[in-house]
Amino acid sequence: MTDRYAVIGHPVEHSLSPRIHAAFARACGHDIAYDRIAAPRDGFRAAALAFRDAGGKGLNVTLPFKHEAWALAERHSDYARGAGAVNTLVFAGGAIAGHNTDGIGLARDLRDNLACPVAGRRVLLMGAGGAVYGVVEALLRERPRSLFVANRTPDKAQALVAHFAALHALADGGVGAGPYAGLGGRFDLVINATSAGLGDAMPALPADALEPGALAYDMVYGRVTPFMKFAAAHGARAVDGLGMLVEQAAESFFIWRGVHPATKPVIDELRRDGEGRRANGEGKGA
Ligand code: ATR
Repeated sequence: MTDRYAVIGHPVEHSLSPRIHAAFARACGHDIAYDRIAAPRDGFRAAALAFRDAGGKGLNVTLPFKHEAWALAERHSDYARGAGAVNTLVFAGGAIAGHNTDGIGLARDLRDNLACPVAGRRVLLMGAGGAVYGVVEALLRERPRSLFVANRTPDKAQALVAHFAALHALADGGVGAGPYAGLGGRFDLVINATSAGLGDAMPALPADALEPGALAYDMVYGRVTPFMKFAAAHGARAVDGLGMLVEQAAESFFIWRGVHPATKPVIDELRRDGEGRRANGEGKGA
């Protein structure tokens, strides 16, 4: 029998997840169906449970339902616990399991596709919203040399770092938080997890925060953001978040199906078809 999965969100029409999972299933020889569920804003729980009760095996959860998915899950992976949010639900009999694959997706894209592993790097993470909570746990596990979280509203960055310090006993002072102004030192990996690019803006990043040759990663995909243009103009290598979108999907596929699909052919195909140019923030937490 065909196993059924879906992505649930509001809106969800432009999600690339059905296409990505169909490509994974084809390549792995798995018989699955993967749909979109557009749930009303106040209808996540009912729609998710109806899908499960009709035999659905799992859901990807996108905005704005990741916190509600956390609440629906009866047990949580470490990554979901760090994020306080769930993007992958497993309905495999027994308790509903909640995972978060966004951080693993980002870390794998950096390491495997972009030859820029987090390990040993001085990382600047911009933003302190849900997208950042989703990735910090995975970034810390990769053992960066240091991790600084900058945000327009510095209090939120400080609260975020305190949350993860409580989970991790961050002892060595390699983790900090604050505003963009006065960012001391240069960073060799700068990750934009703000929503500024969707509104054609960018955070007030000082140019000297970028080490020459640094990787400037925007978690948004589908457009060249002001941050990417700024970074390229200041000697950095600028990339978007399409690879993260595909990698987080691959980790969901692994959780559901027990196999790691190859991601490069799917990333290449989406770029070839121009899907990477579509205006869409899904990569920032699909
Ligand atoms: P998400 O779930 O996508 O992270 P969010 O929780 O609304 O969304 O967080 C948006 C993030 O983008 C915040 O860090 C926000 O900064 P503030 O906390 O100061 O609001 C950041 N952001 C949005 N627009 C921005 C801009 N023009 N410049 C700098 N930061 C911006």
